[in-house]
Amino acid sequence: MGAAPKPAAAQPADPLAAIWRELDALRLTPYVADLDAHGFTVIPPEVASPNGLAPRLLDAVLDVAERRTGTRPDLASGATHAGYTGRYAREGGDSPFGELLHALIFEGRVFEEALMNPVLLAMATYLCGYSVVLSSMGAFLKGPNQTDLKLHCDTLLPPPFPPHALVCNATYALTPFNRENGATAFVPGSHKWCRAPREEEAAIRGDNHPGVVAVEAEPGALIVWHGATWHAAFARSAPGLRVSMPVLMTRPFMRTEEDLFGRISEEALQRNPARFAVLVQQGLVYGFHSDASAEQRSRQAFKHLLAYHEASGGVTTLDPLRWHLYG
Ligand SMILES: [Fe+2]
Repeated sequence: MGAAPKPAAAQPADPLAAIWRELDALRLTPYVADLDAHGFTVIPPEVASPNGLAPRLLDAVLDVAERRTGTRPDLASGATHAGYTGRYAREGGDSPFGELLHALIFEGRVFEEALMNPVLLAMATYLCGYSVVLSSMGAFLKGPNQTDLKLHCDTLLPPPFPPHALVCNATYALTPFNRENGATAFVPGSHKWCRAPREEEAAIRGDNHPGVVAVEAEPGALIVWHGATWHAAFARSAPGLRVSMPVLMTRPFMRTEEDLFGRISEEALQRNPARFAVLVQQGLVYGFHSDASAEQRSRQAFKHLLAYHEASGGVTTLDPLRWHLYG
């Protein structure tokens, strides 16, 4: 006598229909159209930063910078960061983005809230799917400087890129963005070219790229772009600080900037929805270094993937092999 037959699998949920419902409910469909057409979009603060998120993030970023460096950033004058050199400056010049703080997801609940913001997640999911993960969460603090950040793509692969996004950058503007303030600048439509700019195409002054446009954004806006969109940043000519928080998201088979597996506290996992664990890379199976760690990591990852799958109403896909082994 054989085992009882398994019940027929329920019809899998349709991820595209599900994300469209989310985008519609959050009033994001105009921004999706903008993103599709131009490769980037600016979602204003009243839509993108619910519950006063942006000022709390700004305070938290300034606190982290002060704790890590011993100096409170001077928001009004930018004097603490004028002509900043630090780790990322080329010899003889200043940094094109000022000071860069890494790994903010470990710095407290407001950063977890920034990641779980439904607007950010809906846009990242639209571009990279329900299995999207956090690649890195950082902050730039840029004072008056000389050096432009040259045009580049955030997808670091040889061309040609696939037409769909492998990477999504969702950057919170925490202070006003415009050209004088050293804003991010984009080449509209460049995400359709499926390649990064070459060195001789990368400058943003002169006649090379008359189509480069600087972002205009209020504090609390979320600037979202496709990982293949050509972008840069103007040097800051105005006094004061530009503070921004790039939340870089990626498909789960891409190498992430930050390595978070096994490093997120149990408290943080417990106080957040099941999706949080997957977002912060706890569902990534690869990265083991022995037979034992492969087995242990696979089981641990599957536990989080299954919890998210169930919480999402079956909209995520589970790898059939691991489902067979561990389900
Ligand atoms: Fe970039």
